[in-house]
Amino acid sequence: MVELRLPRNSEIGVGKTYPAPAGAKNVKTFRIYRWTPDDDKNPVVDSYELDLDTIGPMVLDAIIHIKNEVDPTLTFRRSCREGICGSCAMNIDGENTLACLKPIKDIKGDVRIYPLPHMPVVKDLVPNLEGAYAQLRSISPWMQADTAPPPDAERRQSIEERAKLDGMWECILCFCCTTSCPSYWWNGDRYLGPAVLLAAYRWIADSRDEHTGDRLDELEDTFKLYACRTIMNCTQTCPKGLNPAKAIGRIKELQIERKA
Ligand code: SF4
Ligand code: SF4
Ligand code: FES
Repeated sequence: MVELRLPRNSEIGVGKTYPAPAGAKNVKTFRIYRWTPDDDKNPVVDSYELDLDTIGPMVLDAIIHIKNEVDPTLTFRRSCREGICGSCAMNIDGENTLACLKPIKDIKGDVRIYPLPHMPVVKDLVPNLEGAYAQLRSISPWMQADTAPPPDAERRQSIEERAKLDGMWECILCFCCTTSCPSYWWNGDRYLGPAVLLAAYRWIADSRDEHTGDRLDELEDTFKLYACRTIMNCTQTCPKGLNPAKAIGRIKELQIERKA
């Protein structure tokens, strides 16, 4: 694994200003965090004055416009442009969200854009999610069953069993929740965080999975699960309207129930 050089975020400076095009009438300023590992400089915030009459309605439209027309060095992730892939997660106007789902018109004043908080930065708006993905792998996010499926048939679920997965299968693993969680900020090396715990509960709640006990055993840990202090930032910030705090609470309840 390549060792990353990290930005000194306590020393963010003022960067360049890219003025609005001549004749622009509907100008809004986008203040965007910039940092590259290629030199030894501190991060800065560059200002881009855009004519809203010439770009699409979402923050991602503005960022793509900057990259294509103003400053090709701006670096960010995006793919689907419709809230499905989770790659455009960033901190916009003080809130972790998806740039492709965030309307510019909902933001008063300048639009401030930073990478997801408390993660190492690869460059500009791109966080390093390797640690979070390793945590996801650690909970085995796939079905584990020792008995064979029925011959020539799928493993069936009743409508009620399938409904228990609602509110979890929709997770797009954007990690907006995890990076909004104070417990994860301070103990991210040991606490799994809300996105991974939601994924863990998705398989615990699946009637077809036969390793529920093993999964709960793995989570019975002071930090992995119990570092959650029910602060609820995760649920408040989820751009898909999911409730990871509730899933975490349910795992804690199951741990109590099986000890009773
Ligand atoms: S409820 Fe738990 S996971 Fe969610 S923000 Fe609070 S401490 Fe983090
Ligand atoms: S629960 Fe919501 S915020 Fe968290 S990773 Fe899933 S979609 Fe993103
Ligand atoms: S680009 Fe895929 S979620 Fe925003």
